[in-house]
Amino acid sequence: MEKKVAILISGRGSNMESLINLSFKENLKIEFLVVSDNPEAEGLKKAEKLNVKTIVIKNLKKGWKMEREGEEELLKILKDFSPDLILLAGFMRIIPPNVIEKYYLKIVNIHPSLLPSFKGKDAQKQAFDYGVKVSGCTVHFIDMGVDTGPIIDQRCVDISKAKSVEEVSNLILEKEHQLYFEVMKKLLFSKWKVENRNVYFY
Ligand code: GAR
Repeated sequence: MEKKVAILISGRGSNMESLINLSFKENLKIEFLVVSDNPEAEGLKKAEKLNVKTIVIKNLKKGWKMEREGEEELLKILKDFSPDLILLAGFMRIIPPNVIEKYYLKIVNIHPSLLPSFKGKDAQKQAFDYGVKVSGCTVHFIDMGVDTGPIIDQRCVDISKAKSVEEVSNLILEKEHQLYFEVMKKLLFSKWKVENRNVYFY
């Protein structure tokens, strides 16, 4: 049976592009929808090039918040599409509690650090400034906190030789692309369960 995946983006959309490209390459039966809170998002053009449907949430002001109208619009988009999974890929808005409640364990995020280290904004800069030698990326379910939901999988990245935040970001991004695709596939096509904070695949 065909699966449905909504990918939410705000900017560049490289994770989105890699998720879609790798799915095409493996002939996975997935229908994608790309949703953006930003009409200027570079990722929208990438999605169109891949012939994937895109929608922009219109009723939003700049910033991290999702106002009521925006929230209603997002809920309507999701209801109409009825996704099996909602993947946040550089989506720079706090998901409203109503949406989380309705889609709990269907909304997944990728974060560019080994959580619970370096939550929130500019995780790569936080890691670089702190001087850690190993960082990485984390894919986790969304809950009511910021980057606090149950961890699905993580990958380590050696950043000990990186000389700038940009270098750290690029090293981590390469791993993000691999990890997000692996996790998406497992969530869609295998059995899993969540007990307390532990996510098990079997
Ligand atoms: C990625 O590094 C992602 O992990 C990060 O934004 C970047 C988006 O890049 N997300 C967060 O920091 C979320 N807190 P992309 O648009 O090229 O996929």
